Amino acid sequence: MKVPFLNLKAHHLPMIDEFDRAIREVIESSAFAGGPFVESFEEEFAAYCGSNYAIGVGNGTDALWLTLLALGIGEGDEVITVPNTFIATAEAITYCKARPVFVDVDETTFTMDPAELEKILTARTKAVIPVHLFGQPADMDPILEFARVHGLLVVEDAAQAHGAEYKGRKAGTMGDAGCFSFYPGKNLGAFGEAGAVVTNDAELKEKIKVLRDHGQAQKYYHSLMGWNCRMDGIQAAVLSIKLRHLEEANLLRRKHALEYNRTFAGIEEVTTPCEASYARHVYHVYAIRVQERDEVRRRLQEKEIGCAVHYPIPIHLQEACQNLGHAVDAFPVSEKLTQEFLSLPMYPELTREQIEYVADCVSEIAGATVLA
Ligand SMILES: Cc1ncc(COP(=O)(O)O)c(C=O)c1O
Repeated sequence: MKVPFLNLKAHHLPMIDEFDRAIREVIESSAFAGGPFVESFEEEFAAYCGSNYAIGVGNGTDALWLTLLALGIGEGDEVITVPNTFIATAEAITYCKARPVFVDVDETTFTMDPAELEKILTARTKAVIPVHLFGQPADMDPILEFARVHGLLVVEDAAQAHGAEYKGRKAGTMGDAGCFSFYPGKNLGAFGEAGAVVTNDAELKEKIKVLRDHGQAQKYYHSLMGWNCRMDGIQAAVLSIKLRHLEEANLLRRKHALEYNRTFAGIEEVTTPCEASYARHVYHVYAIRVQERDEVRRRLQEKEIGCAVHYPIPIHLQEACQNLGHAVDAFPVSEKLTQEFLSLPMYPELTREQIEYVADCVSEIAGATVLA
C-alpha cells in the first residue's frame, strides 16, 4: 500500500465548488491585494482564535518579523527562542537586527523548557518566542510569568498550531501577539503563501497594518518605511472556506494520533509523541522518536510510505547561525531530538487501514534495524 506523507488534493476536492465560487468572486471584484476578502478572513480568524484582532500578512515569517518590528525589537536586543524549530523563528529575530538566544526544549513536549529561561536572561533580553511545535502548545504559564517578572514581551510562534489549546486558551492568544503561517501543508493552509498575526492590542494591530502596507495608513501618505507584506484576496477567500472545516480536520488528526499511539503500544523501539496534560494538541506533525532514524526512513520510503524529518539540524548548528558561535552539545535535548525525530503521514483523510499499515511497517523495520 502506498501512503503519501501529505494528501492536499484529497483534502481540497470535496470543497472544490466552494473554492471555484469564492475565487470567481475575487476575480469579479478585482480585490486581489488586501481588500474585503482579507478583512472578512481577519474577522473570522480573530473570532475563531478568541482574539480581538487578526492582521493578514504575506506568510508566517512576515508575521513574526513585522510583529517584532512593531513591538520595537531592534539592534542590540536579545530575543529568546528554541533551537528546535523551523529557521523562520530565528530569521525574523535576525531581520530585526536583534540576536536570537536559545534555550533547550523539554524532552517530552518538544517545546521551550521554562526552567532554562532564568539562566540566559541579560539586560538586553527584550522578548521571548515560544514555539508551539508540531501543534502542541508550549507550557505558557511559567513562560508568561517569567516575562511578566522581567518586563519582557511574548510573541507566540503558532505557525504549526491553528486551533491548539493551552488550558482552554487558543494558541497564539496568550502573549502580546501570536503568529500563524498558512503555508499550504499547515492545518489551515492557503493555496500559496499567507500568514497572520493575532493580538488584543489595538495599537500593535495598527502598527502592523501600516508596516505590512509600505508604511501607509492612507494611500501614498507614508508615515514610516514599511514593506509589502499584504495578504492576497484569493488566499483570504480560500482561507475563509477552509477555516469553516478546521475544527473537523483537527478532530480527525487527533483521532489519527490516538490510532497511531494505540497501534504502537508495546513497541519498545518507537516513542510516540505525548499530549501534555495542559494541551489540546492538533498534530500538524505526528513525529515519533526512533533510533537509526535515517535507515528506518530509507526503508519506509522503499515501501512507498511518505515520511519526513522536522528538522535534521537544530537552528544553532545551522550554517546560517555560525556567527552565534554555538558548539555541538550546547542544547543536548534539541540535538538528540533532531537525530531521532521521524514524522509519519498525518492528515484528516488518512484511513484507519493506512495508519495501521504505516505503524506496523515502522514497528517491523525499527525492531529489525535496532536489533541489527
Ligand atoms: C514554527 C514555524 N515558524 C514560522 C514559520 C514560517 O511560516 P511561513 O513558511 O509561512 O513563512 C513556519 C513555517 O513552516 C514554522 O513551521
